Amino acid sequence: MEILKAAVIGDPISHSLSPQLHNFLLKQYKINGSYKAINLKKDEIYDFIASFQNDKNFRGFNVTIPYKEIFYKIAKEMNFIICESAESIKSINTVYKQENKVYVSNSDTFGFLENIKINFPEYINKKTALVYGSGGASRAVIYSLLKNNYRNIIIVNRTLSKAKEVAEHFTSLFPSKNIIINCYTDINKEILEDIDIFINTTSLGMKSNNDLIIDFKNQNLNKEILFYDIVYNPLMTKMLIDAQNNGNKILTGIGMLIYQAFEGFEKWFGVKPKLTPSQQKNISQILIDKLNKNS
Ligand code: ATR
Repeated sequence: MEILKAAVIGDPISHSLSPQLHNFLLKQYKINGSYKAINLKKDEIYDFIASFQNDKNFRGFNVTIPYKEIFYKIAKEMNFIICESAESIKSINTVYKQENKVYVSNSDTFGFLENIKINFPEYINKKTALVYGSGGASRAVIYSLLKNNYRNIIIVNRTLSKAKEVAEHFTSLFPSKNIIINCYTDINKEILEDIDIFINTTSLGMKSNNDLIIDFKNQNLNKEILFYDIVYNPLMTKMLIDAQNNGNKILTGIGMLIYQAFEGFEKWFGVKPKLTPSQQKNISQILIDKLNKNS
């Protein structure tokens, strides 16, 4: 019987958790498939795409750092079909074939939102978000919020010009929404005053990086704000620990990582994953163990 193949490409790639995740799902659904991590240098990308196009069992792949934005340009150049999410955020993480055509999309948007839907569904219909950061991850987050009920987005970033660029981009895509920027000195009570959800999209808080510090203790911050960190290594960042100690609801990044994988899995292997809470706990633990082993 033929094996359906999928992969993730990046450089470096050994730290990727996607093989663990997809192999867990393949086992769960008893699918005769494989999912491999491939370390690819930039000058090998076109040969890799050709081998993908010529192999009918090679169903598709994920794209990760540092190729997500480069792949958007390649997709344009090669006339691949670019899904709305990827077009709006100009970054690709999922590639698949359908009827001899190559499609590219960005499933971080789905993963980000699904994590909220499953854990704090009441926050899907709120109105105001503060998005900290202005990189690729920030664009995926802002797009997801604007496609849903969020009307007001406050973008806070160290470099004002980048925040401005992101705000202008999304204002042109969603003219009826209210997108403002804020050049910060610190994340203080004033800018957190009227928000429903705070999302860290920067690398602050990641292992071996500086923490994102919010002074919860001395500011008497609103306890209704959901603090969402898309960083998942460590799972509990300093920001999340402090938010939790303050009595706020918190959301870690592991769910986003898990749910972003579902679109590719469905396109490549033909099954839409649906995890029970215990299966989700199981896969989260597998991923966390792998993270601990990596570090
Ligand atoms: P990604 O694609 O993962 O979002 P990126 O495009 O490199 O990564 O964006 C990184 C984001 O983290 C940016 O918003 C960056 O801020 P700048 O635009 O000012 O560079 C933010 N970031 C990274 N390190 C930071 C730090 N030490 N302090 C504050 N922001 C930081």
